[in-house]
Amino acid sequence: DIVYLNGQFLPLAEAKVSPLDRGFLFADGVYEVIPVYSRQTFRLDEHLRRLQASLDGIRLANPLSTAQWQARVREMIGHSPFDDAQIYLQVTRGADDKRDHAFPTGVAPTVFMFASPLVTPDENLRRLGVGAVTAVDNRWLRCDLKTLALLANVLLRQQAVDHGCAETILVRDGFVTEGSASNLFLVKNGVLVTPPKSHLMLPGVTYDVVLDLAVRHGVPTEVREILADELLDADELWMTSSTKEVLAITRLDGRLVGHGEGAGKPGPLGEQMWRWYQQFKNDVM
Ligand code: PDD
Repeated sequence: DIVYLNGQFLPLAEAKVSPLDRGFLFADGVYEVIPVYSRQTFRLDEHLRRLQASLDGIRLANPLSTAQWQARVREMIGHSPFDDAQIYLQVTRGADDKRDHAFPTGVAPTVFMFASPLVTPDENLRRLGVGAVTAVDNRWLRCDLKTLALLANVLLRQQAVDHGCAETILVRDGFVTEGSASNLFLVKNGVLVTPPKSHLMLPGVTYDVVLDLAVRHGVPTEVREILADELLDADELWMTSSTKEVLAITRLDGRLVGHGEGAGKPGPLGEQMWRWYQQFKNDVM
């Protein structure tokens, strides 16, 4: 198990971070999860751009140039035994010699990266879809930043697991924001609908790809606020992320999503979008 830490590739067992690291003490850092298929990254530049936006948002200078990130990610893939992998990378504000909320001076950031297997939903899961629950979005107001402070997301996701479900759909002031670790799309009368990017949701790399594919293939799309009440009335619900790709949500709060024959089953547009997504991956990689 080779990982990257502060300029070096080394065995996991030899990778040491100070307990005074601000990532550990304050969750003072940001991260990315980058999918790798057949040893090639998918949308790396988009992930690195979002990393820069997250770093800007927490006022932490990027310790590496884009070219350096690209080289290190490539080297990480070389060290990994997995053909399909997810690269996790994080940058924290480093380890000070005391605990003080305010930014330290003269402290180097901590840069960490590791690879794990990428297991996208298999055919069986895609045929069934997954269950979801709804919950009040009690996160902070900068959900556009991919920060390490995931305690709210962790607790929200666990609510889904406690109900035998895969994801929690978050509702703020009556409007759907996203999932605990995914973005949300719904289909109603042939129109694909998703919330607009704002400080209340993470601007998903997959979200961008899916919207782009919809437009390119002539699917009517509406980027607008979604009322929580629209969820159970939808024909299809999907979650999207770098690791789940496009996955149908077929049960919500114990009820079946969709109508008539299609109730509780993944819908046709979602299946089509999954195929377009696979095709797009093959075309660009
Ligand atoms: N999560 N919204 C949230 C809150 C997320 O954590 C994620 C991704 C997404 C989807 O973003 P993308 O399409 O760029 O993967 C939306 C990653 C996979 C994670 O934390 O594991």
